[in-house]
Amino acid sequence: MSIARRQFLRYAGFAGPAAFVAVISKARSQSASAQVAEVPFKLPLKPNSVRFAVIGDTGTGEIPQFEIAQEMQHFHAAFPFEFVLMLGDNIYGKNDVNGFKQKFEDPYQPLLRSGIKFYATLGNHDDPNQRLYKPFNMDGKRFYTFKKGDAQFFALDSNYLTPEQLIWIQNELSSSSAKWKVCFFHHPLYSNARFHGPDLDLRKQLEPILQQYGANVVLNGHEHVYERVQPQHGIQYFVLGSGGQLRNGDLRSSRDTAKGFDSDRAFALMEVAGEELYFQVISARRQTVDSGVLTKMNAVAAVSGKN
Ligand SMILES: [Fe+2]
Repeated sequence: MSIARRQFLRYAGFAGPAAFVAVISKARSQSASAQVAEVPFKLPLKPNSVRFAVIGDTGTGEIPQFEIAQEMQHFHAAFPFEFVLMLGDNIYGKNDVNGFKQKFEDPYQPLLRSGIKFYATLGNHDDPNQRLYKPFNMDGKRFYTFKKGDAQFFALDSNYLTPEQLIWIQNELSSSSAKWKVCFFHHPLYSNARFHGPDLDLRKQLEPILQQYGANVVLNGHEHVYERVQPQHGIQYFVLGSGGQLRNGDLRSSRDTAKGFDSDRAFALMEVAGEELYFQVISARRQTVDSGVLTKMNAVAAVSGKN
C-alpha cells in the first residue's frame, strides 16, 4: 500500500520527555463500531526486523481460542514471527498440568513445535506461580525484561504494583538504550470498554514513569475487545484482550479511540524495523481490522532531554 493511500494521524499535542510518536494509519474511523478493511495491510518484512504476535485473555481452552491460534499459525507462514507476547489471563480456572495443556499447549502446539517462544504477563485470573512455568519464559519473575534487536520489552504484573516494581521499571526504562521500549501488562491505563474501563489508580502510579523514561508502546488486555487509543503523552496504547473470547459491543464511542473493534476476536502482528513499528490486527475471520506504522521521531533525544 502506498504512503499516499494512508491517512496520516499526527500526534503533537503533548509535553514532557516521552517518545515522540506519529501514527500513520489507514484507520479512518474514530467510532467504536466494527469496521474492517477488505484488503490486508502487508507488513514489510524488512531485513533484521523484530517480528512478534500479541494475544490477550486467551486461556479458556475453548474453540474461540483455538480459532485465533489457527489464524496465528496461518499468518506465521507469510509473516514468520519469532515470539508471542501474552497479555494476561493466560489460564482461566485451575493452573494445573491439565490447565496448561488444554489452555496453552494444545491450542498453540503448532507454533510451539515451530520453536516460537511465548512471553507471558500475569492477569487477574492467573496464578502467580505461572511465572515458574517454563514455556511462559518469565524466568520465575512477576516482572521482567528482554531485548530483541532494536526493541526492549518490559513485562509488568499490574495485579500488584508494588514499590519494588515501580523502582524496577523506572530503573530499567531509564537505563535502556533500545530504540523501542514496549511495555506489556494486563490492566489497561486507557480503555473505552464498558465492562472494566481504564484502571485510573494504575494510571496514576505508572503513567508518569512510562512518560518520563520513554516508553513508546503499551500493550494491555483485560477488556475482551480490540482498541487502539489515541496516543497519550507520546505513548501509543493498544488493548488486545479478545484473543480467546469476546465481549461483543462492549466499546463505547469516544474521541480517544483511534480504532475500535468489538464484534469478533482479534490478535496483532507487529514488526519493529529501525525507527518504525508496523502493526496489523487480524480478526478470527481473517479480516484486517486495523493496521499502520508508528514512527519514532527524536525519541532518544527526548528521553535524555529536560522536563
Ligand atoms: Fe482480566
